[in-house]
Amino acid sequence: MNILGIGRALPQQVVTNQQLEQILDTSDEWIASRTGIRERRVMEGQHLTGLALQAAQEALADAGIKGQEIDLILVATTMGDYLFPSLACLIMEDLGASCPAMDLHAACTGFLYGLQTADAFLKSGKARHVLLVGAEAITRLANWTDRSTCVLFGDGAGAVVLGTSEREDLLGIHLNAQTDSRLLYSLSPAGNNPFTKGHDDPSQGLVMVGQDVFRFAVGQSEKDLKTVAEAAGIPMDQVDWVLLHQANRRILDTVRRRLGIDPRRMPDNIHRTGNTSAASIPLLLWELYHSGRLLPGHILALSAFGAGLTSGACLLRWGKQPPSELIPADDLFEQPVQNP
Ligand code: COA
Repeated sequence: MNILGIGRALPQQVVTNQQLEQILDTSDEWIASRTGIRERRVMEGQHLTGLALQAAQEALADAGIKGQEIDLILVATTMGDYLFPSLACLIMEDLGASCPAMDLHAACTGFLYGLQTADAFLKSGKARHVLLVGAEAITRLANWTDRSTCVLFGDGAGAVVLGTSEREDLLGIHLNAQTDSRLLYSLSPAGNNPFTKGHDDPSQGLVMVGQDVFRFAVGQSEKDLKTVAEAAGIPMDQVDWVLLHQANRRILDTVRRRLGIDPRRMPDNIHRTGNTSAASIPLLLWELYHSGRLLPGHILALSAFGAGLTSGACLLRWGKQPPSELIPADDLFEQPVQNP
């Protein structure tokens, strides 16, 4: 499997911590020091379908591939604009594609689950090109009266076009799941069936036991990265870039310290994006690629974790030259938060 192209789309509306101070008992100081987040994008007057489509179109153009050449569309998402049809079906026509299409739900680990699924289609010969999009409007699920959760999330979409060549670039991948709906969940709509009584109330939105999720994320990410590096026979100090799911900068810092990773090899954009769930890793990868620092032959380690509980990590070799127009990205390497 090789990454042939990459695209992204972000909502126009920026919501800063200062804006949150106006509606919640919170402060920029608290949010920034506990999470690293300073602002996030929130969809307004837009649909997730439009964001996913825009990211996908950019990825196809970057790959030099036409929609008709896509054999499978996968969208990793927690919830599209519709419960059905899938987001993948909704973007297909505008891409000019005609192929199997489905959404894949593994919460914040969705992009890694998507990579593994795409790889299986490619390796089995069922597909020559797969479009994988991570697209989330997770702020729709947040409970905007709960200051301990709503400040964390943002919306966005990132996409990659995947194909094959003689050189295999997926050097290893490892996925996990375990049943635990207590730590992080959001109930689906109850509907108005008069014959079904006593269903749980979904109006509480997204619910999270923050410190337990924090512990899970740190421990699992460290374990997954070690597992995948060991299986591939590539020590972590030979990995050029480590991209973690952008959930909390204190999670990033703790994993970085435990694995002895140089901060200059671990970019983050959480201060601008917040936690965008399945879109988080492709959004960060897009920024690294457009910074011009990601070069052909570089090895990337990706690691994600989220509701389920799910987690996963992979090692990838990058094969693309930097794009012709670069976007300066010095703030991808901000100073870690103190006192994690
Ligand atoms: N602003 C101000 N105060 C806040 C606040 C906010 N936005 N959110 C919570 N607080 C308060 C709490 O009410 C609590 O007050 P108290 O001591 O008077 O009871 C205090 O801050 C400490 O709360 P606590 O929950 O212990 O903070 P924390 O250091 O664990 O940070 C999280 C909370 C949510 C930032 C942190 O647990 C976390 O990031 N967990 C992982 C979440 C995550 O990444 N989830 C997605 C994974 S995919």
